[in-house]
Amino acid sequence: MQTEIIKDLMKEYKRPFYIYDEKVIGDQIQELKTNFPEFEFLYSIKTNPNKDVIKFIAQNDIGSDSASKNEVFKSIDAGMPKEKIIYSSAGKTKQDIEETYDKCIITADSYHELEVINEVAKEHNIVLRVGVRINSNYAIEGGDILPNKFGIDEESLLPHKEFIDSLKNIKICGIHVHLKSQILNYETLYNYYKDVLELAVFCVDEMGFDMDFVNFGGGLGVAYSQRENELEIESLGQKCRELINEFKEKLNCRLIIESGRFIVCKSGTYITYIIDKKVSRGANYLIVANGYNGFHKTTLAEMVKGYAQGPLEDIHAVEPLFTSYDAYEVKVLNKSQEKEEVTVCGNLCTAADLIGKNLVLPKAEIGDIIAITNAGSYGFTLSPILFSSHDIPYEIYLNSKNQAIISEY
Ligand SMILES: Cc1ncc(COP(=O)(O)O)c(C=O)c1O
Repeated sequence: MQTEIIKDLMKEYKRPFYIYDEKVIGDQIQELKTNFPEFEFLYSIKTNPNKDVIKFIAQNDIGSDSASKNEVFKSIDAGMPKEKIIYSSAGKTKQDIEETYDKCIITADSYHELEVINEVAKEHNIVLRVGVRINSNYAIEGGDILPNKFGIDEESLLPHKEFIDSLKNIKICGIHVHLKSQILNYETLYNYYKDVLELAVFCVDEMGFDMDFVNFGGGLGVAYSQRENELEIESLGQKCRELINEFKEKLNCRLIIESGRFIVCKSGTYITYIIDKKVSRGANYLIVANGYNGFHKTTLAEMVKGYAQGPLEDIHAVEPLFTSYDAYEVKVLNKSQEKEEVTVCGNLCTAADLIGKNLVLPKAEIGDIIAITNAGSYGFTLSPILFSSHDIPYEIYLNSKNQAIISEY
C-alpha cells in the first residue's frame, strides 16, 4: 500500500477516495498472459468501470465483456476494437441492439433475443454474426442442474435447431457460458472448461454453428481472506494447454476467458478518515466519513454476520454483494503501537452503517486515515453513494509513475 501517497492525497482532497494502483493491475494481466498464451481475455467492465482502469486494460490488448450498451460505449471510448467487445447480458432491448449491432459482437441471451437481433439485421439488410449464451448442463459444484435466468438451456438447443436455422439474417458464430465467479480451485475451473469445449464441439457438429469463438466466461478467483489460498494459476494454465491440444483437431477458433476481479480486486483500496471518536457505555466508536455510502461491502458483511446461525466460514457467497465475512482488511494508517478494541461506523443516520464491530486496531485518533483492502472490484460501482447526500468519494488512479489521476462525480 502506498501509505505516504495516500496521506498526501487525503491532505490535498480532504474526502474519502478509492485508489487504484496501475502496477497491480499490470502484474495481474501479466500473470494471465504468461499462463494462458492460447487464450484471449476480456475484462468484465462492470467489476470496475473507472475510465482510467479500462483505458489501461485496453492498452494491454485485453477486450471487453460488456454487460450493457453503455459498457460497449465505454469500451469504445477506451480504444477497444469492435471484435474485442463482446456484449452479453440478459434482457437487451431492441434499442440496445440497434445502438450496438455494428460496434461489437452481440451474444444473444434467449430465443426471443435471437429473433429481435434477426429483425434488426433484416431491417439493415445484413447477415449478422452473433454469439449465444448457453446455460450448460453442468453442475459446477456437483448436485442438481438448476434453472437459471441466463442464456438458453443446453438441452433445448437441438429441439430449436429448425427455429435457429430459420433466422436468415443471423449466423451463430460463438458460444458463451458462465456459471460461477470467485473459483479458487484450479481443478474445478479445468473440469468446467473441458465441459464447455465438449459443448462447443456439439454446437459445431450437431447445430452447425460456424464457430469464431468459445467464451468460457469468468470465474478466476482471488484469495480475499487469510484463510484462502490463491488460485494455482500456473497449474491451471498447464492443464489448459494439454486440454487445448486434445481439442485442436475439432475446434479452431478464438478461446476467450472473461475476468473482472482477478484483474482489479487487489489494485483497489478504499480510503476514509476518522471524523469522531466516542465511548458509549464502555464501547469505543470510531465514526468515519462515507462508510456504507462509500464502500458497501463491509456493511453487507456485517449484516450477513448478524443473521448467521452457524460458523461464519459456512455462509454462502452472494456475489458480487457478499464474498465472505472477512473479504477485506481494515487498517489504520498511523504508527501507533498501542491496540484498542473499536467499532468502526460510517456517518449515516442508520445503525446498519458498520465497517467492523469490535475490531482490534492500532489506537486511532480523529483525523487518522482508515484503509480498506480488496476494494478494486465491485466497490465504487455497487455502493449506494447518493444516500444521505454526502459528498461522493473520489476515484484516484495511480499510474506507474505514481501520478494520481482523479475522477470526480
Ligand atoms: C458473464 C460474466 N462474466 C464474467 C464475470 C466476472 O466475474 P469475476 O469478477 O468473477 O471475474 C461475471 C460476473 O458476474 C459475469 O456475470
